[in-house]
Amino acid sequence: MKNLLDGQVAVITGAGRGIGAATAKLFASHGAKIVISDVDKEPAQHVVNDICSAGGDAIEVCGDITDPAFPEQLVAKTIEKYGRLNILVNNAGFTWDGMLHKMTDAQFEAMLQIHNMGPFRLIRAASPYMRDEAKKEKAQGDTQPRCIINVSSTSGLHGNIGQVNYSTAKMGIIGMTKTVAKEWGAFGIRCNAVAFGFIDTRLTQEKNASESIEVNGQQVSLGIPGKVRESVSAMIPLARPGTVDEAAGAILLLASPYASYITGHTLEVTGGMGI
Ligand SMILES: NC(=O)c1ccc[n+]([C@@H]2O[C@H](COP(=O)([O-])OP(=O)(O)OC[C@H]3O[C@@H](n4cnc5c(N)ncnc54)[C@H](O)[C@@H]3O)[C@@H](O)[C@H]2O)c1
Repeated sequence: MKNLLDGQVAVITGAGRGIGAATAKLFASHGAKIVISDVDKEPAQHVVNDICSAGGDAIEVCGDITDPAFPEQLVAKTIEKYGRLNILVNNAGFTWDGMLHKMTDAQFEAMLQIHNMGPFRLIRAASPYMRDEAKKEKAQGDTQPRCIINVSSTSGLHGNIGQVNYSTAKMGIIGMTKTVAKEWGAFGIRCNAVAFGFIDTRLTQEKNASESIEVNGQQVSLGIPGKVRESVSAMIPLARPGTVDEAAGAILLLASPYASYITGHTLEVTGGMGI
């Protein structure tokens, strides 16, 4: 099964590592041209090199998706290079956990910025090349495939201890997904979300071993406690975390022609956790 996305142009945020990087490589192997966007330039360039050395077509356009000016620049550079935009994957993200009674405003606000404001501004910036183009094409009777996939979490659907900020934002992106599906559906543009459970990435590494990132001048350590990793695995019917390639497969499924009548949906990708 090859070339499900032949010739389509995809922008993927947070594509320097983890789920975003795996999605970029999988999309490229199915014939899409990929714009790799990440706040970290070096890993993003590695993903571009991997795709290009495998015979694919990709560029990096790096920047902080929470910078109000960046989404417009990302779309402008995409159009400058490839002339169109078919698929948008809002994947960039991180966690900044803490119990509600101790959580700061900055901690809460950071999650709304990365998981809601960034995707909102990017979809708005893309609207001339997605919504408006699709409207014109529809009038001419010749529409290209176009869709948006927003990355959510089971924390958004079900809540999660220590993640009142993240779960609020990840539920917010589901509301955004359904609204875009309703506003843009008439032009043939689909918008879906994927709610991942436990995928093995640096966000879910054991806390001691994991990295930290800087958010507004503060160091935020990523990862989860080892005990939580063990207890979550015990709740998964498939009895293991998902791999980034399995996560990417779910995103490809929603971007592919096989999902042409699926919109406004949140696909839970959890190994069966929570059934
Ligand atoms: N790993 C899981 O179990 C899991 C579960 C549910 C949801 N998710 C979501 O999946 C998405 C991808 O996460 P991952 O697990 O692959 O983590 P990851 O840390 O491996 O990758 C996330 C990428 O996003 C980038 N990023 C972070 N902040 C950014 C910013 N301000 N601007 C641009 N890029 C930025 C990072 O540099 C990184 O490359 C996130 O939205 C996350 O919340 C992950």
